[in-house]
Amino acid sequence: MIIEYWISGVKIRTDKGSGHRVRLHSNLKISDFVTVQCTRSFGVLKNTGDLVDLNLNGDSTGTSKSLDVEQAVRERYSPAAEAAEPALCCPVDYDPQYLKIIPAEIIERDYGCGDPSKHVAAGETVLDLGSGGGKICYIAAQIVGKAGKVIGVDRNDDMLALARKYQPEIASKLGYANTEFRKGSIQDLALNLETFEAYLADDPVTSSSDWLRAEAKAEQLRESEPLVEDDSVDVVVSNCVLNLVSNADRQQLFSEIFRVLNRGGRAVISDIVCDEPVPQHLQDDPNLWSGCVSGAFGEDEFLQAFAEAGFYGIEILSRQEEAWATVEGIEFRSLTVRAYKGKEGACHDQKQAVIYNGPWSKVMDDDGHTLYRGKRMAVCGKTFEIYSHEPYASQITPVPPSEAVPVDEATEYDCHRNVVRHARETKGQDYDATQLPGSDCCGGEGCC
Ligand SMILES: C[S@@+](CC[C@H](N)C(=O)[O-])C[C@H]1O[C@@H](n2cnc3c(N)ncnc32)[C@H](O)[C@@H]1O
Repeated sequence: MIIEYWISGVKIRTDKGSGHRVRLHSNLKISDFVTVQCTRSFGVLKNTGDLVDLNLNGDSTGTSKSLDVEQAVRERYSPAAEAAEPALCCPVDYDPQYLKIIPAEIIERDYGCGDPSKHVAAGETVLDLGSGGGKICYIAAQIVGKAGKVIGVDRNDDMLALARKYQPEIASKLGYANTEFRKGSIQDLALNLETFEAYLADDPVTSSSDWLRAEAKAEQLRESEPLVEDDSVDVVVSNCVLNLVSNADRQQLFSEIFRVLNRGGRAVISDIVCDEPVPQHLQDDPNLWSGCVSGAFGEDEFLQAFAEAGFYGIEILSRQEEAWATVEGIEFRSLTVRAYKGKEGACHDQKQAVIYNGPWSKVMDDDGHTLYRGKRMAVCGKTFEIYSHEPYASQITPVPPSEAVPVDEATEYDCHRNVVRHARETKGQDYDATQLPGSDCCGGEGCC
C-alpha cells in the first residue's frame, strides 16, 4: 500500500504502513526517523514533537515509543499553576528587595533553578522564555524600570492566567506598567498562539486540506504579525525551561533566541544540565522530562548550542555545586550561561590590534581568532569593537592606530589569519618621533 502524508508542509510518500519507521526529509523539524502511528480516519496529521500521529483509513495499529513532550509538559504545569508542586522546586536565592511587591501565589509557584534577572539592567527590553507565574518578569520589571520593558512568553494557559492576574496590582505598586505576557512556543517565537487559536476556532481543522490551510495561516501570521519581532530584544532570559523543549526542536529554539535579539544583545539562561548522557528510557519518562530532569542538556552541549547558533562570548556565570537531582548515578544541576549576539558581518582592516593580558598563554574566541599573551594581535574593526566591551574588555588591552582609519576607507580583512600587528603599522610607517623623559615627569621627586 502506498501512503502519502504531509509533515511541516512536506509531502511524504512511502509503501510502509503501521508501525514501520519512515525516513523523513532532512530539513524537517521533527526527528529524522519516526515510528508511524495509525489511528482513525485518513488525512489529519498532528506533529507533536517527536511523535507523529498518522491517521490512516481505520487502521489503528502501531505505536510510537517517543514521548509526547508538549502533552507531558502541559499536563504537569497546568496543575502546578493552581497549586505549588514541591517536586518542581529548586531552591534559589532571589534578591529579597524585588520579592516584596510580588504576591505569595506567584512566589510559591516558583519553578526556576537560577536567577537570570540579576543580569539585566535599567532601560532594557527583556524577554523571558517560559515565564510561568511571572516571577522573573516581575523582578526584571523593577530592575529595567519605567524606561524598560519585559515580555513573558509561555504556552500554558493556566500559567499565563496566573501571571496576568497580578499585572494591574503590580503596575499600581510600581507606578508604571512595563510587563506583558504573550502566548507562544519558545521554539517558535514568531507565532502568536492566541491569534492562531482564534483562527482555528473559526476554521477548525477536520481534513488534510484544512490542515494545510491552517499551516499557511500560521506562516502568514509569523510574517505579518510576529509574536516577537526580529532584533527587538536586549536580553533574553529564561529560568528552567529550555530543557523541556524536545530534542528535535532545540536547534530552532536557539535560532529563535538569536533572531529576536538586537545586535549586541545577550541571552542569560538558567537551566538544568547533566554530567553524563541521559539514556533513552529516562528521556521517555514523562514525569522525569516534565520535571526538568531527563531533558537536561549535557553541560558542554549546552554551551555548544549557543556557539552553533552564532553567539559569542559564551560563559558560565554560575554552576550549582551540589547536584539538584541524581538519577541512576547521573547528576543534574543548574547552570547559568550568558552569550552575546553580534559577531556576524564584514571584516575591515582599520589597523587595530589587541594585546591579550593573560593569565593563560593563549586563548581562542568563537570566530577562531587566537590571541597570544602579551602579543599585539591584528584584528578587524568589528572584532576590535567586540573586544572593547563585555565579556572581553577586562582581559585585553586595545591598541588603536595613532590615526583612525574610517570604515569606508578600510580594505577588507581576512579574519581567519592570526597575525601579529607590527608596532609600525599602528604608529604609521613614517613615525619618527624622539622624546626622552623630562625632569618633571615624576612630580619633582624623580623616579629613576
Ligand atoms: C519549570 S517552569 C519555569 C517557570 C518560570 N520560568 C519560573 O521560573 O518559575 C516551565 C514553564 O515553561 C513553560 N514551557 C515549557 N515548555 C514550553 C515551550 N516549549 N514554549 C513555551 N512555554 C513552555 C511551562 O508552561 C512552564 O510555565
